[in-house]
Amino acid sequence: MEFSIKNGNPEKQRSDCLIVGVFEGRKLTDAAKSLDSASNKALSAVLKNGDMEGKLKTTLVLHHVAEIPATRVLLVGLGKQAEFNERSYRQAVSAAIKALPKGVVNASIFLTELVIKKSDIHSKVAQLVEVVMDATYQINAIKAKKAEPKALNKISVYVAKSENTAAETAVKHGMSIAAGVSLAKDLGNLPPNICTPTYLGEQAKQLAKEYGFKVEVLEKADIEKLGMGSFLGVAQGSKQPPRLIVLQHLKGKKPQKPVVLVGKGITFDTGGISLKPGAEMDEMKYDMCGAASVLGTFKAIGEMNLAINAVGVIPTCENMPDAGAIKPGDILTSMSGQTIEVLNTDAEGRLILCDALTYAERFEPSAVVDIATLTGACVIALGHHPSGLFSNKDALADELLTAGEISHDRAWHMPLWEDYQQQLDSNFADMANIGGRAGGSITAACFLSRYTKKYDWAHLDIAGTAWKSGKEKGGTGRPVPLLTTFLLRRAVRAK
Ligand code: BES
Ligand code: MN
Ligand code: ZN
Repeated sequence: MEFSIKNGNPEKQRSDCLIVGVFEGRKLTDAAKSLDSASNKALSAVLKNGDMEGKLKTTLVLHHVAEIPATRVLLVGLGKQAEFNERSYRQAVSAAIKALPKGVVNASIFLTELVIKKSDIHSKVAQLVEVVMDATYQINAIKAKKAEPKALNKISVYVAKSENTAAETAVKHGMSIAAGVSLAKDLGNLPPNICTPTYLGEQAKQLAKEYGFKVEVLEKADIEKLGMGSFLGVAQGSKQPPRLIVLQHLKGKKPQKPVVLVGKGITFDTGGISLKPGAEMDEMKYDMCGAASVLGTFKAIGEMNLAINAVGVIPTCENMPDAGAIKPGDILTSMSGQTIEVLNTDAEGRLILCDALTYAERFEPSAVVDIATLTGACVIALGHHPSGLFSNKDALADELLTAGEISHDRAWHMPLWEDYQQQLDSNFADMANIGGRAGGSITAACFLSRYTKKYDWAHLDIAGTAWKSGKEKGGTGRPVPLLTTFLLRRAVRAK
């Protein structure tokens, strides 16, 4: 998709389709008004006939509007003007793009003129780009007959002349985040027989080549040397060899301590010997979405050439029920030296993350954020809207919450109180790997907290947000927008 910033009035533009807004009560926006007066009130006439009220996300396509050179005009409902905000703006943009007729190759959008509280032109344009890219994303389906890609490939975003510079920057910015989101979606959507730990390692190497990251892909023997007994315990049930991926983007000032992102990369989670039930098990291919979000975020900051020091650490393997697999009752020794009684082999995410979190110490991080499709319990607690956020440092939690609000990729702060820790008690090892049904997402975070005492740390449980089920099954690319925005704000702060 190509975005260009343009100036001018809608009634003068040649385009396959002009997109203008209508508020509830058939109230035309300024752009719609100028089309209306240029066309002898063609828009007002259609609205008067009752074809459209202006309700949010409704759309109506008009063809051959009198005196207008554009081929079509798409009216998009914006909802109540008094309630119009960034959320409704994003929904309107998405609805308009999805409603474009098949033949539209280039579209012209007149929506950034809308006044939104706390939103400037940069934010409006960047969000428009991100929303359009999200709405036009196509799964790379493996079908005998390839789906025809949509014809739409050019979008003109109309702004006031004085806004040109800010808008141009915003397009680049939005495209960088969109590229990261799209990579995370692609990796998540790939079948698990293709997207293996080895494949993720190759992807990391390719990204490193493209953007000049430092990269290491450690193999089983290297992981053994590090003493990652917990990670290797999970990996031992699979024919696919594990990998530990380490990416470094060092574009910050020299002494600046890095932010480390740690992503759970289980490329398929059967549950292991504590086998999962069969229904919807295919969705456990998405159990590497934490890893995908780290790679996606690296793509985004690579595209932006962001002035920050960031390290990505990805432990990746399969969780399979092989004859050699770990069993309930087995005790593993983690890289930290702490021992773990495995009471359920399906609680494998924390087992691979704990060693990666210990490994992260060597970077002397300013903060470590891990991202994981960690618990079904998180989905029960929060549903599919926010990611669960846990942290041993409130200031870091607040930074991430703010980044989530700004990028419309929200998280919700969950407790990490000492009170929950005793649920992990074991008679046979330093801790058990599960803490019972009560507060399952919290006890999972408590488990991780035992490996993150040496630095500021946050954990994002993305079990409910990383992909969608049902008819719209597919990766969402979350939380790449949150993470990228978090790093962007840190880079600005370090200037
Ligand atoms: N990958 C799953 C978590 C998950 C389940 C994410 C369903 C999204 C949807 C994780 O490895 C897991 O199996 N967790 C268990 C933990 C339990 C055994 C304590 C769970 O949530 O059931
Ligand atoms: Mn599991
Ligand atoms: Zn899992």
